[in-house]
Amino acid sequence: MKPVRILFVCLGNICRSPLAEGIMRQLTRRNGYGDVVSVDSAGMGAWHIGHPPDRRSIAVARAHGIDISGLRGRQIDAADLAAFDLILGMDRRNVAELRRLASPETFHKVHLFMNVAAGRNDDVPDPYYETADAFEALYQMLEAGCSSLLAKLKRPS
Ligand code: 4NP
Repeated sequence: MKPVRILFVCLGNICRSPLAEGIMRQLTRRNGYGDVVSVDSAGMGAWHIGHPPDRRSIAVARAHGIDISGLRGRQIDAADLAAFDLILGMDRRNVAELRRLASPETFHKVHLFMNVAAGRNDDVPDPYYETADAFEALYQMLEAGCSSLLAKLKRPS
């Protein structure tokens, strides 16, 4: 597999994208791709810069054997568009904002996560105002998407 740098992006970088980062990192390591696939996450907004992930994302990750408590929120900047190969927005609003940040050279890197992962034009819904139950559903959606994404990256293109 060609080395690939993946950036997961959501609104706050405390619920969805850090969980996706933790899941993808564990999947790639477990499958022997830890050295070729690098993962990171960022938010569109600045509210949670320096903050740990939402405790509900930390808890659901921990329940599935993944520790994301050491991650810290950050805001995407223009340099990220150049530095990463795949910039995956969790929902269509993230993708629209990412496309506004992108240049003609980097525009092709921006995709909707579930679309590039599983060929489905589905948003990963914002769980911030939801109950803890929504975070298990979030985990399942992200895990399925990350597994599909890894399988796709493994296929020679
Ligand atoms: P995320 O969820 O985009 O999945 O991290 C959110 C977290 C915080 C806010 C919105 C969404 N917020 O408005 O602070």
